[in-house]
Amino acid sequence: MASVWSSSVKRSSDGAISVGGVDVRELAAEHGTPLYVVDEADMRARAAAFRDHFSAAFGRKGAEVDVYYASKAFLCSQVARWMREEDLCVDVASLGELEIALRGGVAPQHIGLHGNNKSDAELRRALEVGVGRIIVDSFTEIEVLDALAAELSVSAPVMVRVTTGVHAGGHEYIATSHEDQKFGLSLATGAAYEALVACHDAANLNLLGIHTHIGSQILSLAAFQESAERMLGLRGAFTADTGAELPEVDLGGGYAIAYTETGEALETRDAAYGIADAVEAAVTKVGGTWPRFSIEPGRAIAGPAGMTLYTVGVVKQVQLEDGGGRQYVAVDGGMSDNMRTITYQAEYTATLASRLSDAESALSRVVGKHCESGDVVVRDVQLPHDTARGDLLAVPATGAYGRSMANNYNAALRPAVVAVRDGQSKVLIRRDTLDDLLRWDVAAE
Ligand code: LLP
Repeated sequence: MASVWSSSVKRSSDGAISVGGVDVRELAAEHGTPLYVVDEADMRARAAAFRDHFSAAFGRKGAEVDVYYASKAFLCSQVARWMREEDLCVDVASLGELEIALRGGVAPQHIGLHGNNKSDAELRRALEVGVGRIIVDSFTEIEVLDALAAELSVSAPVMVRVTTGVHAGGHEYIATSHEDQKFGLSLATGAAYEALVACHDAANLNLLGIHTHIGSQILSLAAFQESAERMLGLRGAFTADTGAELPEVDLGGGYAIAYTETGEALETRDAAYGIADAVEAAVTKVGGTWPRFSIEPGRAIAGPAGMTLYTVGVVKQVQLEDGGGRQYVAVDGGMSDNMRTITYQAEYTATLASRLSDAESALSRVVGKHCESGDVVVRDVQLPHDTARGDLLAVPATGAYGRSMANNYNAALRPAVVAVRDGQSKVLIRRDTLDDLLRWDVAAE
């Protein structure tokens, strides 16, 4: 199988695929479909690869790196525990993510809190439990946090979120370090520098350093290198003016993965060594000490480890204007379990998972069951002409931003997430039930 599949995916002699040693037909029978399936060993191995390659690449230079798992990609308490067991820290971006990470046993000092518009409740809780870093995103937040820290008699550990002007990544909605957007404080206008001064001067803030995140699905090492150089330039300027060393620099996440057989990924090892070299060059140029580094991969840890299993319902052959045809394969989920296709025109692939077919393949579109024509899961894929009701389809690389962006459109029941490993499956998040839906709905008197 191509590398879009997690490492344990195999097709057995009877034609069905298995993952983590479990046949997909068994998974569907036991847990129902649609079903998100996470290959636990694969996800842990990806986390460990970030830890090991970055430690080795920076260790060569005598520097240390922390890897924060960007939990917005996919979080539940068991995954938080896996990340802790793999010696990763966890980045959260809301009170909900914070509570789940804590429930998974992640030590508060290993948690970083993000957000462009954190509420008082989020900041207060972060200070009360003692998170390791709060990434401040505005002057308003600096003031509010300083006051809350005073009230609670603590010193708040902060990093300033910097917009470096480096613009990278696949889609405009997920590119975050150019100027015209809501995140961070600008390097170019001097706002980032002023924010550093404000944090440094604030009585109840402990300024740890600077943070940036330049986008997602980034294939270009040069973009990471450029952002590292700009960040170290800012750090150097601040130290030169104030004499204060900023001990930490975080370069964010954004490492690209392959979604289709022809898609490319940024190799973790190449990224580690490429970024470490760029940092070394920048430190040499700017002078001063090496900071402690951190990175925040989300998608590259969770994405390739997950797949979605669907059951095929209706199959339609549609005539196209150019005389060709398209097979529409409707599955039992859609834009409620995968928002990425409709939101970012993301590309995916799919395979017939429950059997092998020797029928000819047909240009196909995998669509969902929602009342909307844009409800597409896979825009273009070759699937056998005899794909039929009851077949299982597997869509790879849905582990990141699949379940975490799922919704209840059309009062859909969000699918369960199961982890597979060594021939066993276990539920990480249970499927929504009709009772759940009816419980949220306040019945008319
Ligand atoms: N750090 C920060 C501060 C972030 O904002 C993000 C993602 C990450 C790390 C992790 O980025 P990753 O390594 O996963 O690319 N829903 C979109 C992605 C939005 C990402 C937002 N921030 C998608 O489905 O592609």
